[in-house]
Amino acid sequence: MRAPNGCPVSARAADFDPFSDGYQQDPPDYVRWSREQEPVFYSPQLGYWVVTRYHDIKAIFRDNITFSPSIALEKITPTGPEANAVLASYEYGMSRTLVNEDEPAHMPRRRVLMEPFTPPELGHHEAMVRRLAREYVDRFIDDGRADLVDQMLWEVPLTVALHFLGVPEEDMDMLRQYSIAHTVNTWGRPKPEEQVAVAHAVGKFWQFAGKVLDKMRADPSGPGWMQYGIRMQKQHPEIVTDSYLHSMMMAGIVAAHETTANAAANAIKLLLQHREAWEDICADPSLIPNAVEECLRHNGSVAAWRRLATRDVRIGGVDIPAGAKLLIVTSSANHDERHFNDADFFDIRRENAGDQLTFGFGAHQCLGKDLARMELQIFLEEFSRRLPHMRLAEQAFSYVPNTSFRGPEHLWVEWDPAANPERRDR
Ligand code: HEM
Repeated sequence: MRAPNGCPVSARAADFDPFSDGYQQDPPDYVRWSREQEPVFYSPQLGYWVVTRYHDIKAIFRDNITFSPSIALEKITPTGPEANAVLASYEYGMSRTLVNEDEPAHMPRRRVLMEPFTPPELGHHEAMVRRLAREYVDRFIDDGRADLVDQMLWEVPLTVALHFLGVPEEDMDMLRQYSIAHTVNTWGRPKPEEQVAVAHAVGKFWQFAGKVLDKMRADPSGPGWMQYGIRMQKQHPEIVTDSYLHSMMMAGIVAAHETTANAAANAIKLLLQHREAWEDICADPSLIPNAVEECLRHNGSVAAWRRLATRDVRIGGVDIPAGAKLLIVTSSANHDERHFNDADFFDIRRENAGDQLTFGFGAHQCLGKDLARMELQIFLEEFSRRLPHMRLAEQAFSYVPNTSFRGPEHLWVEWDPAANPERRDR
């Protein structure tokens, strides 16, 4: 078998399947062979070139002209006619937002919409995140057992996301289902019979986004990022377009919510699996900010991202033709020995943990990264202070099969409520 550049496809490259359990459970381990022996390879099953080393991935992020982000939200598994007809019946029209917008349109839009992400603006959300984290922990602190994903880590980031965007708090369970459908639709491999159900959920999500936007247009005075976008549209209609606003309304809910929920679940799981690190942060909360970076490096919530080669180009010594689609496995870059010493080792004091590529890098680097960091830090502060004795319950972890958004579907923890520090201190 040969790749589009005429080179032979190795057996391991031919076997690469990012929807298999091996990739789902541990993406950087699944592509260890590639990092070591064949850092750029063509995957015939996916129709993508896969890139796994830190240096190559950072270089790709740095050059968003050669490596266009336009395919970042494209369906990785093209849907069949039935699902396409369902999407069309909802007038589904997800298009360019920021994350998949090319230059020269992208940067002026990013600049015009940036202010709500600056530290003074984000500071306004801190008290709410803290209050929500406390209220949710209050609900189960006396139970001795909780599924942190179902009982807190989905809903709190979703509430924060809606608040940040300025979207009224609607039916949370419905939005969770819509978000998962969007993930499967964009980065998953649903079977033909699942595709129709996913298409209905995605179509409804699109209509929901449109309705919320229409209401906001009637009164765009609120403090949310979407209202800010509507106000900016009046000054810069050619930069902040209608299509952008509708697409962003839907994509923004997912970008701000699911990524952070998964990151929180991954971080707590990882810390409880490394008891010493957990006890260190319980004893000294000033370690938490760096621990968050190390969690995002070691087990981030975005495992891989995508780019499109706009010209013939060489990556890691391999010739890639114009038009090639790239899966850049950022979670693998984060375990690259060439950049991180003893890369598989989980070290909350690691000096260069902040070099992780989970938020991307360069012109499109995640705009919400500091909001996500704030949420993760507050969750860890609250858990380490109020439930330092919690431990992981016996369980098998499952993941929604897809290339990019990654976190356990459930995270069961347990503890002895009689030993809760706040009972002792009463
Ligand atoms: C872009 C990850 C949280 C809003 C991105 C990108 C990644 C990412 C990988 C693409 C970067 C690139 O192409 O270089 C994450 C992770 C998060 C998170 C892992 C949580 C741990 C958030 C939050 C928000 C947000 C909370 C909003 C409140 C955005 C936006 C972009 C983006 C608007 C597009 C930026 C651009 O293209 O200019 N994020 N994200 N993200 N993210 Fe996040």
